[in-house]
Amino acid sequence: MCGIVGYVGPEQALPILIEGLSRLEYRGYDSAGVALVDGHLSVVKRAGKLSELRAALGGEEGTLPGHTGVGHTRWATHGAPTDGNAHPHVDCSGKIAVIHNGIIENFQQLRDELTKAGHVLASDTDTECVAHLVEDAYEGDLAEAVRHVLPRLVGAYALVAVHADQPGLIVGVKVSSPLVVGLGEGENLLASDVPAIMQRTRRFVPLEEQRVAEVRADSVRITDFLGVEVPLEPMEVTWSLEAAEKGGFEDFMRKEIHEQPAALADTLRGRTGRGGRLALDEIRMPEDRIRDVDKVFVVACGTAFHSGLVAKYAIEHWVRLPVEIEIASEFRYRDPVLDGHTLTLGVSQSGETIDTLEAVRHARRQGSHVLAITNTVGSSIARESDGVLYTRAGPERGVAATKTFATQMAALHLLALYLGQVRGTLFPEEVEERVGLLRELPSQVTRALALEPQVRELATRFQGARDVLFIGRHTGYPAALEGALKLKEISYIHAEGYPAGELKHGPIALVEPGVPVVAIATECHVRPKVLSNIQEVKARGAEVIAIATEGDPDIGMLADHVLEVPRTHELLSPVVVSVPLQLFAYHVARLRGCDVDQPRNLAKSVTVE
Ligand code: AGP
Repeated sequence: MCGIVGYVGPEQALPILIEGLSRLEYRGYDSAGVALVDGHLSVVKRAGKLSELRAALGGEEGTLPGHTGVGHTRWATHGAPTDGNAHPHVDCSGKIAVIHNGIIENFQQLRDELTKAGHVLASDTDTECVAHLVEDAYEGDLAEAVRHVLPRLVGAYALVAVHADQPGLIVGVKVSSPLVVGLGEGENLLASDVPAIMQRTRRFVPLEEQRVAEVRADSVRITDFLGVEVPLEPMEVTWSLEAAEKGGFEDFMRKEIHEQPAALADTLRGRTGRGGRLALDEIRMPEDRIRDVDKVFVVACGTAFHSGLVAKYAIEHWVRLPVEIEIASEFRYRDPVLDGHTLTLGVSQSGETIDTLEAVRHARRQGSHVLAITNTVGSSIARESDGVLYTRAGPERGVAATKTFATQMAALHLLALYLGQVRGTLFPEEVEERVGLLRELPSQVTRALALEPQVRELATRFQGARDVLFIGRHTGYPAALEGALKLKEISYIHAEGYPAGELKHGPIALVEPGVPVVAIATECHVRPKVLSNIQEVKARGAEVIAIATEGDPDIGMLADHVLEVPRTHELLSPVVVSVPLQLFAYHVARLRGCDVDQPRNLAKSVTVE
């Protein structure tokens, strides 16, 4: 997610903007910029870290004057992280600067219209459209011009704008993405996040949905989109700065587990079709090339491998293409069979995992068309693939992948549906129906998060376990693998995931009285067999935690503990099933005093072989 800071008051704005942006660095970003109003508009922006921006500003203090200013750190979603794509973006007159956090879904249509109307757009971003639209609407009142533009914008965004001819005014807009007003003494501020400005004030007005803030040094006016004023409702923030960076959560991992509904919504936004047809132009794969594919290979590591395994089930079911999946570090050493008719999917949230990168490079050398599924715009895997399908989970700071796992599965399901649409294995109405199931995921995950108190109790019961087995069938199997990985990597308890049908071929020897077994028993065509496997381990004394579908009539008679998740299509179930599994690992680890954000021996991105 991008970071936004705005200041208007008696002091020089620049140092306050830089300080605020530095407090947002924890969010992750790939470029930064500022705009100041001092009789005219000055904009300085650079790709890279804040140090690049500071250097461009002439060192720590910088020399850019102005009592009104806005600053931005960008987590790229549209357009690579370059100086030109960094925010702020300006209009043709060079008098209006706009910064933005979120996604303007209809930006391509807006860009086309603006270009036809004679505007010159200098960047690849969705944000720049807004600056030019405001330019066309501006008749001396920036807030009015912004309100005039808003009905044209489709998507989720927090916008902030300034105008050279209106010093002392910052206009902010909130639609889905967060934006808060900071109420100071003789000064006022705007920010995407409390930490950016809490060193200036502890009094905030979080903007409600569809609100426009007109921020001046001595006044703040908040209106709806029609310009009707609404009352301010200030709040006092008592958090420490560290707590504020975590949005009030104790750590990044729990924050990111709870961000999954929003991350899923952002990942699906603007991609679930117009008039029933999916359009994933961003993968840059011509339809005839898609129809020419006779095999799919998935290469990934860790959690990304597990989301790739879920994708295997979905692609084989909906597209009827054979899918091979391989641990990336094994892939190129096994002399895999692939050629120009193979589509290789490289799944990596960081886009920098060397094992996956090398696998992708090998696949390209064999002539395979390579598609990266990554959370990091401009990452190595994005640059070295033929096409990219970005997840939009925002920066994930916890080493244990959580929201990126969910968004990888959502993106891969979208891809499977798109492949089915292009290859004709799915009728348009079938695509539309399944896209509808994807759209339900954010609310289903929200309901699954409500299991947390129950999960916390179970974590208390099992915090001393020595071994934990996770079992599942069909897509319950990758869910079991992921649940085991989460538990072992943050709590250091030995845990293994197995296909439930595989138990009797050896692993069941591990089962003795009291051994915890987590069984993924959600509604699916092989659920009866999972129930049998639960009876197998129960007969040997296991204590069973079952993840079941809400309203399951039988599971309570078989399992010792039941966690009920919302009903989903069986190919999508790992998205909701993984929520209690993540929470279980998290609370066990916390109870064991482990560092859930930085587990021992692990790095967020493994850039060595
Ligand atoms: C998962 O919780 C771990 N952090 C790890 O397995 C991770 O998924 C793996 O290293 C792959 O990382 P990537 O998605 O950045 O390539």
